[in-house]
Amino acid sequence: MNLIILHIPREICLKLVEKYVSPESRLHLFNAEAGMAALAKYFNEIEPGSEDEHTWAMCGLLHDIDYEQIAGKENMEAHMHEHCGPLTEKFLKEIDFPDDLIRAIQSHNEVQDIPRDSKLAKALFAVDGLTGFIVAVSKVMPDKKVASVKIESVLKRFKEARFAAAVNREHIYTCETELGIPREKLVEIVLGAMKKV
Ligand SMILES: [Fe+2]
Ligand SMILES: [Fe+2]
Repeated sequence: MNLIILHIPREICLKLVEKYVSPESRLHLFNAEAGMAALAKYFNEIEPGSEDEHTWAMCGLLHDIDYEQIAGKENMEAHMHEHCGPLTEKFLKEIDFPDDLIRAIQSHNEVQDIPRDSKLAKALFAVDGLTGFIVAVSKVMPDKKVASVKIESVLKRFKEARFAAAVNREHIYTCETELGIPREKLVEIVLGAMKKV
């Protein structure tokens, strides 16, 4: 996938979030938005103009747009089968989101079996897992704040299999195999971004 620059402003993307995502579930989207923007910035510092921060941020913001709209949430397997399917496409088309970016978003759910064929798609896959993991680490902090989470504590918790067992570490570690970013660096970038949310 060539570099795609999204021309839809954030306020329109946010309206879509407000339409389909309850206030309680929006924080995860804002975290992903911040993490993606920070990661695009990181790549741009290495190779100026190689990625578009706004495009990455909006893909983070909208990546779970269908999640709460899927019926039958009690059956996790069936739910994951639906997540990032036709409903995602339908919602994103409401704001004329480009097809290639819709696919990049859909590819973050492995069940859909859509190849992660861009840096953006690869980043979203790793960032999605990591933001959830960092939130889990923040919950065991005395003040329960992301601001109190340290890079080292996140790295240490990765190794505790029973901690936040639902988060697949392998998804996060694809930053090394697919993006060439050491996990320590990814944590530094995403945690730093989440602290500003
Ligand atoms: Fe998702
Ligand atoms: Fe997500």
